[in-house]
Amino acid sequence: MKVGIDLLHFSTADYYLGLDTFAAEKNIDVNKYYIGIGQEKMSIAPPDEDIVSLAAKASAPIIEQVGADQISAVLFATETGVDQSKSAGVFLHGLLGLSKNCRVVEFKHACYAGAAAVQMATAMVRSNPKEKILVIAADIAKYDVDTSGEATQGCGAVAMLISSEPRVLEIEPGSGYFTDDVMDFWRPNHRTTALVDGKYSTKVYLNSLKQAWQHFTEQTGRTFDDIDYFCYHIPFTKMAEKAHQTLVKLTGAEISEQEFEEQTIPSQIYNRVVGNSYSASLFVGFISLLDNLKQNLENKRVSFFSYGSGCVAEFFTGIVQPGYQKVMMTESHQTQIDQRTPLSYADYLKYYHEVDCAVDNIEFATLNRGPFRLAGIQDHKRYYQKVEPA
Ligand code: CAA
Repeated sequence: MKVGIDLLHFSTADYYLGLDTFAAEKNIDVNKYYIGIGQEKMSIAPPDEDIVSLAAKASAPIIEQVGADQISAVLFATETGVDQSKSAGVFLHGLLGLSKNCRVVEFKHACYAGAAAVQMATAMVRSNPKEKILVIAADIAKYDVDTSGEATQGCGAVAMLISSEPRVLEIEPGSGYFTDDVMDFWRPNHRTTALVDGKYSTKVYLNSLKQAWQHFTEQTGRTFDDIDYFCYHIPFTKMAEKAHQTLVKLTGAEISEQEFEEQTIPSQIYNRVVGNSYSASLFVGFISLLDNLKQNLENKRVSFFSYGSGCVAEFFTGIVQPGYQKVMMTESHQTQIDQRTPLSYADYLKYYHEVDCAVDNIEFATLNRGPFRLAGIQDHKRYYQKVEPA
């Protein structure tokens, strides 16, 4: 029995900050961003957008197709949870009107949790093929103003339906894992912004790739040449490029510059203009590959390298299914990206400071164009709203 991703759809916010605007504000050569880290824009969430509204926007078209009563579990992966106790997935469950006979749980380990949730859902379907599991990876990447991380913010959510006989990707058994107790990026409970040892984090990422790859080859016997396309966790696209260089060098693979680009560039197109979306970013990269690659991906093997600082990493593969093009929601992805409104640096800062988890009573102005928004907080309780199309 095949198990894997049956449907997938991503969402991002309605606003962005161009790194040209950012560079002008900071008096820095814009090529540091366009070339040096390989980023052009960062999606910016207004105060009435959070991981729940992003997740609902990502999930709604999937639920419309399969029916709310069909979902047997929601596994919600995030680094930017909205409550220390209640799972973000339960707010989502309410907004989408899912069945009461559905389990919901939140997964956390920095940017790794999305891959962990996909693997857990896959195992659940293997043991009970009737399960249809909604996996969400959703994050709003936020660093302190005037730190090295500020240019690598962004946000997005990916919703994936994991089932038997999947129409998009069969996830293959066999993974390589790596865990190490390090402090390269972390966020203590009292903080809304992440702390990061930037340069160190890039070194730990590349070392984790080597270790996870080593374990993957031991577990599966597969080699570099068995894989057609490579998706990496993308905090910024230059990191994925460095990851692929590292893997090519480690394996001694002999590939041309053109092959190198074909294996990696299509999976970076969306991330370059969305920015980091932590747990979602690997899967935004996969959607970018499916939506943007000119060649047919049917029966091709794609690899996934998930990296969560702190750190946990995993390397696994999947086979793209015949006919996948028929269920891709490419137009929605491209429209969301194209129709975002650019922000001035001052407006970005206004949004940045207005999002304040410490407030116990607030009603947010309507900036998020929907279909779901965070309406406000009353007595420390979050209230969401469906936005009817204009
Ligand atoms: N033209 C072209 N290139 C330029 C340039 C210019 N004018 N100016 C600088 N560059 C190049 C630099 O040479 C450098 O290239 P290399 O990395 O190849 O050496 C690159 O641009 C970046 O320049 P700096 O190193 O000077 O940049 P920085 O000090 O501002 O920090 C960073 C870069 C550490 C990645 C920072 O963006 C950061 O802290 N980001 C957040 C942490 C992060 O994303 N880490 C990734 C691994 S951890 C992870 O993956 C989990 C996660 O999601 C957070």
